[in-house]
Amino acid sequence: MLLPADNEKITRVGPRTPCGELFRRYWLPAALSEELPDADGAPVRVRLLGENLVAFRDGNGIVGLVDDACPHRCAPMFFGRNEECGLRCVYHGWKFDRHGACTDMPSEPADSLFKTKVRITAYPTWEGGGVVWTYMGPPALQPPPPDYEWIRTPASHRFVSKTYENCNWLQGLEGGIDTAHSSYAHRNDITNTSLPRRDGHPRLEVEKNAYGYRYASVRTLDGDETYTRIYHYVMPAQQMRGAVTSRAGGRAKAPKLAGHLWIPRDDETTYVYNTLWSYDPAYPLSEEIIWNHERECGRGKEHLLPGYKLKADKENDYFIDREVQRTRTYTGIPGINTQDYALQEGMGPICDRSREHLGTSDAAIIAARQLLFEAIDAVARGERPRGVDPAAYREVRPYDDYLRAGRDWRTAFAPELVAKW
Ligand code: FES
Ligand SMILES: [Fe+2]
Repeated sequence: MLLPADNEKITRVGPRTPCGELFRRYWLPAALSEELPDADGAPVRVRLLGENLVAFRDGNGIVGLVDDACPHRCAPMFFGRNEECGLRCVYHGWKFDRHGACTDMPSEPADSLFKTKVRITAYPTWEGGGVVWTYMGPPALQPPPPDYEWIRTPASHRFVSKTYENCNWLQGLEGGIDTAHSSYAHRNDITNTSLPRRDGHPRLEVEKNAYGYRYASVRTLDGDETYTRIYHYVMPAQQMRGAVTSRAGGRAKAPKLAGHLWIPRDDETTYVYNTLWSYDPAYPLSEEIIWNHERECGRGKEHLLPGYKLKADKENDYFIDREVQRTRTYTGIPGINTQDYALQEGMGPICDRSREHLGTSDAAIIAARQLLFEAIDAVARGERPRGVDPAAYREVRPYDDYLRAGRDWRTAFAPELVAKW
């Protein structure tokens, strides 16, 4: 459990909040590249860390990210004209480039120097992995661009999607690093009692390191075998996990690794970026593999509304079917991530962690909170938090597999735990 003041400290992300300052030390996803397909195309609204911004791909094909409020009289830049390497406010024609400079002020006299004195807030961007990234912190502290393995993976072997989650970011992250719930919430065939599902109290081994931590969840199977799954928590808000063995206990049909990033829109809503990548150069991710995966997670094209929202939500009880719950699946809710959203959103906009009771299976959640508090305090002291330097996580890869009981996963999985892309 957390004291209410600590819960506030670790969840709120607006400007000048402690956790907001922490997030502002990292490159963060601002949009998918596919949202901004064309140079001089339509601008896109971006809500990030409680700030209302507008992204536009300028005439050179580079994405600009500026305040949505025009610095003249606060009209929305979203309605702006994206033309000739700048976004022009349609109220009085003031134009700004992607660096925030005012390049035209047609409503003032031609000889006025006023435009040299006015700027719009603008954040730098970088594109990689099908994602537009931004850095919203002090310019002097800007780190090199992100370098996770999935970003380096060729587009043919990688897929990134995005979903809107209607709760605070930390509820999402804590779900992502909570291995135990997958034995319950995601048990989609209650008649199958085999393998990873059977051991419902996995042992957790957490190892903190330069980017956050890696941890193993070890489930005992029949005989002397274990199902051992290696996760990474990459600060501040990313999980990577092995998806090598299938949920039913056999070999997966595709050699894939997966993860999520929980990026706060504001204190009470989140964009989840869902990553999937192949670890085998001989196996690109086919459309079939991608969409089977997305559908299984509950975010196939047929499951989505505009704005990356799910059709399944609180209003329709996430389409729970009590007969299915009684006879076939543990929750009765279709879609793996829909199950997560039902449980995480149902905790409320910001979960009151003063009411919780954590057990041994929550060791990874406790460790993540420790790291977040440590990093928030480090930033307040003017120091660099973990996971900012790409060198800390560049070589990281998750993995999962069966392992003879007593064998050490650190040595047994060592070759698999290194990025190959
Ligand atoms: S409010 Fe934007 S130019 Fe006047
Ligand atoms: Fe889950």
